[in-house]
Amino acid sequence: MGAESPDPRSPHPVSLDPDPDEMRRLAHRAADLVVDHLLGIRDRRVVTPPDADVLGPLLAEELPRTGVGLDATMDRFFGSILAHATLVNHPRFFAFVPGPGSFAGAVGAFASAAANLFVGTWLGGASAAQMEVQVLDWLRQAMGLPDGFGTGILTSGGSMANLGALAAARARATTEGPGAGFRVFVGQETHYSVAKAARVLGIQDAAIVRITADGEQRIDLDALAEALVAARESGHRRGVVCATAGTTSTGAIDPLEAIADLCAEHDLWLHVDGAYGAATAFLPEREDLRRALGRADSLTLDPHKWLYAPFEAGCLLTPHERWLRCAFTGDGSYMQDIPRDAVNFFERGPELTRGGRAVPLWFLLRSVGIDAIADAIRGDEARARQAESLLAADPRVRIVTPTRLSVFTFTRADGDEARARAWLDTLLTRGSTMLSSSRVDGSYVLRFCVVNHATTDADIERAVAEVLEACDAPPLACPERAS
Ligand SMILES: Cc1ncc(COP(=O)(O)O)c(C=O)c1O
Repeated sequence: MGAESPDPRSPHPVSLDPDPDEMRRLAHRAADLVVDHLLGIRDRRVVTPPDADVLGPLLAEELPRTGVGLDATMDRFFGSILAHATLVNHPRFFAFVPGPGSFAGAVGAFASAAANLFVGTWLGGASAAQMEVQVLDWLRQAMGLPDGFGTGILTSGGSMANLGALAAARARATTEGPGAGFRVFVGQETHYSVAKAARVLGIQDAAIVRITADGEQRIDLDALAEALVAARESGHRRGVVCATAGTTSTGAIDPLEAIADLCAEHDLWLHVDGAYGAATAFLPEREDLRRALGRADSLTLDPHKWLYAPFEAGCLLTPHERWLRCAFTGDGSYMQDIPRDAVNFFERGPELTRGGRAVPLWFLLRSVGIDAIADAIRGDEARARQAESLLAADPRVRIVTPTRLSVFTFTRADGDEARARAWLDTLLTRGSTMLSSSRVDGSYVLRFCVVNHATTDADIERAVAEVLEACDAPPLACPERAS
């Protein structure tokens, strides 16, 4: 007899999910562990200097052919892995631009992941797509932007929103005329993701024009005006000016109204990267900013920063749905059932499959309300000023740029850069307060950026005390650091 032919029937179905009672028990346990983590966060280290020699062995495990179960997996995550994490939502994390998140947003993220909503096409996920439309409109209204600013997309972050904006601007340019003359004007302090987006879109480095900064780290208007004239005279009539509402290093807001005037004069697209600062347009009293943002052709904001949404939540808003679609639309015979006159987010960005990105934001905005978010933003700004004035009172400290939005920069009054670096290294090693550094007009500075609704006055006092305690740390022996 020959070899037996394989059984054509499917194997017995295997569910990867536990039975109902066990599912409930595990969900409650997960909720307890999450809440314990959040409640205990203030007493934990903010940062443990990352060490691949520790993290490698910590995470290295045999390929798990036989699962160990969810209890053991949660124990490992909450018990040992999180202990090594840098906690960017810690109330004393003041480095870069913090990602504070929020409990309401986290509950939304859990709900969204469990429902596993698909939001790429109208047919595949109309209700979640409509929720995203609604959230985009709430954001528009909260920032006082005109009705016409009615389209956009939630992205994974500010970098992807900047990419979408540049793609839309270039789609307009190439449709309306020869694309070869396309120029991207950026400031000296523009976030690197803008130039990176240009490169990804195949725009040559030579077509990226860098405009010098004025004395307050903003785009210098005269230099921009000159560059625009020079570009036009050399036949480069198409392009995008990328202004920033809140630079990463110092929170500077470019002179947006004047830049909008120049863009109107030269018929150029104005993109505003407000990944950090556009959230302050939630404050009704910031009328100037709200009016200026309303003149942009596209606007990046980053709800996972200062709107307290969990990662990953970026956002691109624009009045020009046509150009967004022109940049990103696509087709295939397998797409023929999708109604093209409805909202299809795959036509507004590079991805087809996207999850329910709006859900965490919808939970957050709906449950706490935008007035509370505006109050939290005001609180962060006030606490940054509090930290600045406490530090300024110490004669060893020199404030380099004052609090703008919720960030200020400072250094040692004696100007010793090696010791300023040692100061930051000491803080990182101690791990109880985290700052980061940057350069202002070429010189090394420490940055203190407050973006966290959970940060209290007491956190600021403790952080400043820790910063001052570390001030006189000797330069590290490490030769490349000391030089
Ligand atoms: C001004 C600015 N633009 C863009 C980005 C990039 O945003 P993301 O990290 O969400 O991609 C950042 C990040 O800090 C930023 O500060």
